[in-house]
Amino acid sequence: MWKGRFQEEQSDLLKSYGESVSIDWQLHKHDIRGSIAHARALKNAGILTPDEFASIESGLLQIGSEIEAGTFEFRRDLEDVHMNIEAELTKRIGPAGAKLHTARSRNDQVALDFRLYLREACETLDSAANALQRALLGLASRHREAVIPGYTHLQRAQPVLFAHHLLAYIEMLDRDRGRLADAAKRMDAMPLGSGAIAGSTIALDRESVARELGFSKVTTNSMDAVADRDFACELLAALAILGMHLSRLSEDTILWASAEFGFLDLSDRHTTGSSLMPQKKNPDIAELARGKTGRLYGNLMSLLTVMKGLPLTYNRDMQEDKEAVFDSIKTTRDTLTILAEMYSASRLREDRALEAASDPLLLATDLADRLVEGGVPFRKAHEIVGSLVALAQQSGTPLDKLDSADFSDASPVLTPEIVAATFDLRSALAARSTTGAPSPENIAREIARWDRSLK
Ligand code: ARG
Repeated sequence: MWKGRFQEEQSDLLKSYGESVSIDWQLHKHDIRGSIAHARALKNAGILTPDEFASIESGLLQIGSEIEAGTFEFRRDLEDVHMNIEAELTKRIGPAGAKLHTARSRNDQVALDFRLYLREACETLDSAANALQRALLGLASRHREAVIPGYTHLQRAQPVLFAHHLLAYIEMLDRDRGRLADAAKRMDAMPLGSGAIAGSTIALDRESVARELGFSKVTTNSMDAVADRDFACELLAALAILGMHLSRLSEDTILWASAEFGFLDLSDRHTTGSSLMPQKKNPDIAELARGKTGRLYGNLMSLLTVMKGLPLTYNRDMQEDKEAVFDSIKTTRDTLTILAEMYSASRLREDRALEAASDPLLLATDLADRLVEGGVPFRKAHEIVGSLVALAQQSGTPLDKLDSADFSDASPVLTPEIVAATFDLRSALAARSTTGAPSPENIAREIARWDRSLK
């Protein structure tokens, strides 16, 4: 492709060290689409005849279908997907093929292909995230009244509906989808026409190329356009955060599926056994999902580090961008998909969860709230309930089973009626009725809201 200036054949080591086609061949569909749009612009500018354009277009489409069919042979000595396709085109259609690269560089070409690829990936990832949200919503709906202990510091804190806990992850995934949509918005600028760095003296109609390729605008600085990989960093950052959420969901799942908690039943199809211990049923999917989050962080760090010291504009270092990004996309898509399948086949052991949530200590705060309603300042109420908890623990009595004299000695507000009403789990949940709190009525409304908004 640049033989004019060189007298010696390239080192074989450089060929294998420098090739990227083993990774970037995956851009083929977008490379071909971009080349057809570019060729049309060359035709409109009078650089290609209509016949030349027609043979370029049909040659590229033919190559595209052979790649799809798996019959096209990529050559590593041709370095990357761009040169493979162009070289093959020229071999097939002759001189017209050699005109295709007019007013274009691989620098703006790869910037275009990568954007096109990632815009599509954002959509795929968005629907995979939507599917996981739906699976979680399904699990919540199957157990819409079930109660579990909510935790802080992994200590039992207050009772919540199981659905409330799952809906928390549906919220997180929704923000993740927002980040993907934001990243996609920033990719929506068409870089072709930027050339290697400084545009071209051959003026092409960039706006019509942008329209043909589904971009709403063109990039406005040729140097920025070929040097920019923010859009890829941004996607990797969004996927790293998404991975953090999936990892926390996995961790909750692993805890819930343990014998110690015993809340969640995972299906046989989504667990593994032990080659040694016959009793084991391991939550490997959740563990792998938690583990794969490491790659998502690694890929983000990798690209940020590749980019940080680069002078403007394009530098070959940037070829290292695709492997990290492709890996994060595949890892995230696969994780979202398998988690969705796993939760669709999971079941809450409502009896076990209820037993754990029925610990009266979880309603100690509610007891303090009753004192507050009786005029006791909250700090004082906290202290009073604290000493009742200590008394219960010293005497080995459940908090709600202390003598009525213990309660009335602690405060005249704590009559037997008030105490009995406070320790009623159902009414304690029903009372949590402010926006965002887990009363059954709120949760039913939230489930219905998500059911309408998730496609
Ligand atoms: N394979 C290259 C990459 O992915 C394409 C751009 C190469 N440009 C260049 N001037 N060598 O970065």
